[in-house]
Amino acid sequence: MNNKTVIVTGGSSGMGKYMAKRFADEGANVVITGRKEERLQLVKEELLETATGKVMYVQMDVREPADVKRMVDEAVEEFGAIDHLVNNAAGNFIVAAEELSINGWNTVIDIVLNGTFYCSKAVGEYWIKEKRKGTILNMVATYAWDAGAGVIHSAAAKAGVLSLTRTLAVEWGSKYGIRVNAIAPGPIERTGGAEKLMLSPEMAERTRQSVPLKRFGKPEEIAGLACFLLSDDASYINGEVVTMDGGQWLNQLPF
Ligand code: HXC
Repeated sequence: MNNKTVIVTGGSSGMGKYMAKRFADEGANVVITGRKEERLQLVKEELLETATGKVMYVQMDVREPADVKRMVDEAVEEFGAIDHLVNNAAGNFIVAAEELSINGWNTVIDIVLNGTFYCSKAVGEYWIKEKRKGTILNMVATYAWDAGAGVIHSAAAKAGVLSLTRTLAVEWGSKYGIRVNAIAPGPIERTGGAEKLMLSPEMAERTRQSVPLKRFGKPEEIAGLACFLLSDDASYINGEVVTMDGGQWLNQLPF
């Protein structure tokens, strides 16, 4: 990652923050984005404590195409180039499908699916114009291919991101050498998903028991995988989804 420039959307909290930290510790110039400037500033300072690369932030909302364009412009102006994009920004909450409002549905689709497309398109256009072979990493969930009861908006959006991952991997891989991959994390401690979706200690324990390895994953483990998928060690991996969930989604036996 040394001297590479990586954009991590939603990089000021949860998994995004741990990925940004790993990249910066490995010598990358990291751009973290988020909606709350105060939080971005704090996390930038935290990352700089151990970073060997540089860190900047862009206060923005992935739902706003004008913000996304500004993110690309500011990253290029500060670091001279963009090498990798991690579409990590997400929104989610537990709700019964029949109780989900239209605005609630649209909000999650907008952040997760539209936001991922807006950022991919803006950074992809920059790479195509500059003839650079960049790499995109998307975040999905195993419920993108089975069922997300209680999170229908997120499940539908992540299924869209999965399709976007594979489609861009083919379109942009064949024309421009741009690689596009995804990670499907399971329950990961210290993340927005764990905090927002585990509504009680009992629910957290039930989730833990559903994982064959009987533990939550660590955000540092996701960060290590992200680093590998962006690096040249993964230069022949394209259009792939790597599940990191302790085997949880395979644990379908009724006992
Ligand atoms: C029902 C809800 C709700 C809830 C919001 N809404 N929370 N409905 N139950 N708990 C509805 C609101 O009533 C409103 O609809 C609409 O959603 C928009 O809400 P706002 O608060 O105005 O939206 P906004 O401020 O844009 O915030 C977006 C958000 C918020 C998604 C609601 O939680 C957010 O910003 N989250 C970002 C961080 C996050 O969620 N991280 C977790 C990612 S976990 P009405 O009709 O009332 O106007 C993840 C897990 C992946 O993705 C898989 C892991 C295995």
